[in-house]
Amino acid sequence: GPRLRDGTYRLWNTDPGRAFVPGDDPLYVTMPVQLVVADAATHLVFHDTSWDGTVTLREGEEGAGSGHDRAGASELRMDGGPLRCWVIVGTPARVLHAWVSLTGAPALPPAWALGHHHARWGFGSEREVRRIVAGYQERGLPLDAVHLDIDHYDEHQVFTVDQERFPKLPALAEELRRDGVRLVSIVDPAVKTESGNAVYDSGMSEDAFVRDASGRLVRGVVWPGEAVFPDFTQARVREWWGGLYQERLAQGFAGFWHDMNEPTSFTAFGESTLPRSARHDLDGRGGDHREAHNVYALCMARAAYEALRELAPQERPFLFSRSGWAGMQSYGGTWSGDVATGWPGLRASLSLVMGLGLCGVPYSGPDVGGFDGSPSPELYLRWFQLGAFLPLFRTHASLRAGRREPWEFGADVLEHARVALVERRRLLPYFMTLAHLARRTGAPYVRPLWWGAPEDRALRDCEDAFLLGDCLLVAPVLYPGSDRRHQETV
Ligand code: GLC
Repeated sequence: GPRLRDGTYRLWNTDPGRAFVPGDDPLYVTMPVQLVVADAATHLVFHDTSWDGTVTLREGEEGAGSGHDRAGASELRMDGGPLRCWVIVGTPARVLHAWVSLTGAPALPPAWALGHHHARWGFGSEREVRRIVAGYQERGLPLDAVHLDIDHYDEHQVFTVDQERFPKLPALAEELRRDGVRLVSIVDPAVKTESGNAVYDSGMSEDAFVRDASGRLVRGVVWPGEAVFPDFTQARVREWWGGLYQERLAQGFAGFWHDMNEPTSFTAFGESTLPRSARHDLDGRGGDHREAHNVYALCMARAAYEALRELAPQERPFLFSRSGWAGMQSYGGTWSGDVATGWPGLRASLSLVMGLGLCGVPYSGPDVGGFDGSPSPELYLRWFQLGAFLPLFRTHASLRAGRREPWEFGADVLEHARVALVERRRLLPYFMTLAHLARRTGAPYVRPLWWGAPEDRALRDCEDAFLLGDCLLVAPVLYPGSDRRHQETV
């Protein structure tokens, strides 16, 4: 969140391996970026190295004052370097503008991506996808995109389709598109180690996969079983990988959801990623996974974005990625990852979006309803209502989780969800304007209340409301049993 508490935070992209709760650290995205709001001015420091590291935040000595007067300390430790620090000073708006000038202007999402998305791990078949879309249509609920998770792949292998359960995917995509609904595909980096798998075979002939110092392929285990990992830090591998999106476009997909790209490899113990000794090209310099790990997903996003610009030049690419690093906004957005279902998860959703926006990544959102389990109707609705005002407005849940369709929680919830969906649709031009502003100025859509008045100390303490652009104040309900907000808390 935007207001980091004292403690030690690790700079190492990590899949926690289960639904996360606030306080879990590290998570999927590392941002070695520190934004300090003080009376004198706001400043941003970018600790410009991709190595593993920690940041420790400590309040000043007792007696040095209280509350905001107390001078704080921050200690940074990096496992490698060189470490270059960039410091940007000014108002929050000026600081964010300079920050995206340095690391890249946020990509402009296509208009439909600012609408409502519905995802689920386990839609399972064309029939089920049609049933969900019809559920929205019959009730007159706006829907702009449906996401297909790994279960639409043939045995979880990336860039394939299960022909039995999705026999006519391009036709389905076309039919949905006529109704204004786009299909988005999950894309995982791990490629099943199996000759006969076309992606594996072509990757082998391109020598695209990460190897160790003795030249052996580095193998891991992900959804399809034993797998190898493209080395996205090499230009020619990015180009090869980017070309594979042609298959997705031919299937009718309009957007891409990068996952498991910390990268994650399942292990019984130790770190669930590649060994630190794995070798990477690092754009010709050569190095190992200690340096390449945090930028792996960033380079994957670059591969996809650059390819999509060429493969489908008439459309703005739509891409969001679970993992990433400073600058990922040039290629797309991100989402919460597997946020645990519960009221703390709801509050974490807002903190994440606000914090990411201040790191230059304006387009993100949570799994509305939470990733695991079953939210109560009240929690689901509050999450839905918050999500309607966040850039990526997407319901999503795990294979074994309860339903997330707005009509599954009773008539009352459905009517309130409808209001939220209709309001979101009404605000689409406003969201589009915010997307353009973010691209031109780096200002996030979702801003803390102190955005325009950092000198106002009372505003700095407010973490449960936000400004959506210049014109709207959003004060969501984030606790159970409440049906109003007191003005004082805003
Ligand atoms: C990961 C993703 C989640 C996805 C699942 C299956 O847990 O974070 O969103 O549904 O993998 O692909």
